[in-house]
Amino acid sequence: MKLENPLTGSMISLDEWWMPFTANRHFKAAPRLLARAEGMYYWTPDGRQILDGTAGLWCVNAGHNRKPIVEAVQKQAATMDYAPPFNLGHPVAFEAATAVAAVAPEGMKRVFFTNSGSEAADTAIKVALAYHRAKGEPSRRIIIGRERGYHGVNIGGTMAGGIPGNRKAYGALMAGVDHIRATHDLARNAYSKGQPAHGAEFADELERLIMFHDASNVAAVIVEPMAGSAGVLIPPKGYLEKLRAICDKYGVLLIFDEVITGFGRLGAPFAAQRFNVKPDILNCAKAINNAAVPMGAVIVKNEIHDMIVNGAPEGQIEFLHGYTYSAHPLACAAAVATQKLYVDEKLFERARTMEPMFEAALHSLKGARHVIDIRNLGLVGGIELEPRAGVVGKRGLEAHIKCFEAGALVRFTGDILALSPPLIIEKDHIERLVETIRTVLQSIE
Ligand SMILES: Cc1ncc(COP(=O)(O)O)c(C=O)c1O
Repeated sequence: MKLENPLTGSMISLDEWWMPFTANRHFKAAPRLLARAEGMYYWTPDGRQILDGTAGLWCVNAGHNRKPIVEAVQKQAATMDYAPPFNLGHPVAFEAATAVAAVAPEGMKRVFFTNSGSEAADTAIKVALAYHRAKGEPSRRIIIGRERGYHGVNIGGTMAGGIPGNRKAYGALMAGVDHIRATHDLARNAYSKGQPAHGAEFADELERLIMFHDASNVAAVIVEPMAGSAGVLIPPKGYLEKLRAICDKYGVLLIFDEVITGFGRLGAPFAAQRFNVKPDILNCAKAINNAAVPMGAVIVKNEIHDMIVNGAPEGQIEFLHGYTYSAHPLACAAAVATQKLYVDEKLFERARTMEPMFEAALHSLKGARHVIDIRNLGLVGGIELEPRAGVVGKRGLEAHIKCFEAGALVRFTGDILALSPPLIIEKDHIERLVETIRTVLQSIE
């Protein structure tokens, strides 16, 4: 199939790009393309407006093509396109780290830049191992993840992750990984608003696994404080607090993967602040610079940084890790502008203010066709559909496509629809999203 790039007028071919996490043949038979974006909207190449119910891929928290961010990137590109980050620095990288540290939890003010959430996951695992080694406990090497967790697609993240389909083809890429169970409990918690009441005890499994492996061998546990990719699984009340207490008891590091929950998604800078549970290491990416340029970061407690850095001989590289594009000048310029925009427009607070309205609109879908659960927190919503017999995920895909045709971008994971709109969303956008979903659910089998 041949199509045109509306920006350049040149013809495009769909054959060469092997698309990520996409049913390539299905997509290329009936492509859905986006060509332009602004504020709450995308436009297709033929000019159809699509209301963005997902902030791109949970990442455009300030809305699309915001002028201060666009201008910062343009200015930086015209000034210095690239600078090596190994043994050289550039001012905007330090500014970006300071801006990110400013919203990080107390005592977590050291920032290691990556280019994605996947790289953040693998970096965090290496930081945890390097920390225990520097501390004189090199036997602590086991990483504990959680079923249905998603930490990207690099080796550490794939193995610590807990989505069976993402893991099954690769065997044991990394030794010494174990998993606690997921917290999803439809029987007890269906249609919970905010944090579900039941399930804090699922955290006890962490203690069981630590005892089983012996604490002297366990380095870290990595969880998303709210699991996004596996279908919006909100932590039960008391659950994260229990994980924290168990980690403290056994000297195990707690890593929060906040790639989705970071930068206002839950109405606070990070889930750590929303839930008042501080991890030792905090991964972020998506909304760090409003997704203008790829970027991720691992934020660590000062003492973790100091243990690794101060423990190494003077003059030697302390942490032999990094990427050519760590702290890329364009990404950093976008991050500084984005963090300023978040503050200037009070977008994190705005997410919290909009939460009750979003919650009420979302839960009005209770009783809509196919719906078996609705859950929400901050500006995140999950609508679980009953899977069609024998074809799990088909109904979700169809709902996604029909919503797109009806002018709304809604994400799906299996048969769970997920909403995570830009934090600038208004009441009428919320109503339009919900009504589109209601109509679409009525129209599909
Ligand atoms: C919690 C979490 N961690 C890691 C990642 C991977 O990020 P990336 O796709 O930027 O590699 C994602 C992506 O959705 C995520 O949701």
